[in-house]
Amino acid sequence: STEAGTFSGVIDIAETRHALLPGAPTRLWSYNAGPLGPLIELNAGDRVAITLNNRLPEETTVHWHGLPVDPRVDGHPRDAIAPGGSFRAGFTLPDNLSGTFWYHPHPHGLTARQVAMSLAGPVIIRHRNDPFAGLPESLLVISDQRFDRDNQVAAHTPADWMDGREGEVVLVNGQYRPRLDVAPNETRRLRVLNACAARYLLLSLPGATLTRVGTDGGALARPETGLSQLLLTPGERTELLVTFPARVGQSLQLVSLPYARGKMMQPEQTAALPLMTVAVADRAPAAAFSLPAQLATIVPLGRPDIRRRVVLSERPMDHRMAGGGMMAMMKNMFLIDGRTYDMNRVDLSGKVGQIEEWEVVNDSHMDHPFHLHGGQFQLIARNGKPQPPSWRDTVNLAPRASLTLRVRFDTPGERLYHCHILEHEDLGMMGTLAVH
Ligand code: C2O
Ligand code: CU
Ligand code: CU
Repeated sequence: STEAGTFSGVIDIAETRHALLPGAPTRLWSYNAGPLGPLIELNAGDRVAITLNNRLPEETTVHWHGLPVDPRVDGHPRDAIAPGGSFRAGFTLPDNLSGTFWYHPHPHGLTARQVAMSLAGPVIIRHRNDPFAGLPESLLVISDQRFDRDNQVAAHTPADWMDGREGEVVLVNGQYRPRLDVAPNETRRLRVLNACAARYLLLSLPGATLTRVGTDGGALARPETGLSQLLLTPGERTELLVTFPARVGQSLQLVSLPYARGKMMQPEQTAALPLMTVAVADRAPAAAFSLPAQLATIVPLGRPDIRRRVVLSERPMDHRMAGGGMMAMMKNMFLIDGRTYDMNRVDLSGKVGQIEEWEVVNDSHMDHPFHLHGGQFQLIARNGKPQPPSWRDTVNLAPRASLTLRVRFDTPGERLYHCHILEHEDLGMMGTLAVH
């Protein structure tokens, strides 16, 4: 049912061993044994209580990416759960929220490593007015991994810190190039979550077109049809509808096409990377599906009460090498408004209930996916060009690009904003908005 209710659960965060490769088992850090954290399926309006038990040898937090939860239960780095400690995250979902979200660690400086160790899990929130209730659906959580010679999660290299770490082994729901069987002529909803630390996904399904029906924060007002590819940055989610071919035995491949994101130390991807095979199986053909023209109502956030400009940048090369080693240099490399993160500093302040308009500008040489905590914003414009209404929490900024977003916070507290390349976040490309 999609009626609001109460959801309670326990997540144990612990080291586990998995037979992923021939030879020695791989040590991973897991939510409830993993490799992927359990799917948390909720309904709009639910009251949620989740107990988090940290059995890792180091501190961690759990952040509810995209959910409008009270900042005190949102895994702020200051609220680190010590080894052996527990924390109870309680929150109530708004009754108009739906979509695909996720949870992942957020301890300062340790996020990228903990996610590489496999800590991440998906959340689906369903709503009574779901235009696609009843359609077959698949959740595709895409992550990547790199193993060392002993089958263990490889340590970060300096190039990983600089560019963000991409693992060569790309997994869908923890599996390497899995196969999905569909019925002839079936229209299926695909919820895709890019849970990679830094890998951009330029999704394409040659032989079929993609219809985008949802973004981070739920349904689009109107579907976008006929897409041949779709960029999904680290942290971002999308909902797609795909109608598969009618002929039994035909198969398609979901791939990630080459996308150059301005890496500084490593080559860009040059060939299409296969993610998953979809095979039309010998099943009763699906009935034809007709796509509604209107999917949701997105009431635009109106005239802003506050306007801000936020600039993402890199420290110029000649300042970088002065003193200290490679790590010290990199800790001073990725900036927001000219500085690196300090958890005891407030960078911006706002007021409950006010509509804020942010212009976010990328004044660096690489793409950075910009993410804001504490709920969904509306993407208003990209490079000055008005955008169709959508709810977002993570949006890409190419070099020299700008975006305009509007947001309103209904509860006080501190919200983080940062680059969702997790290595950049750890290196301090993050700031604090305090809402009073
Ligand atoms: Cu998904 Cu602050 O992160
Ligand atoms: Cu987040
Ligand atoms: Cu970045």
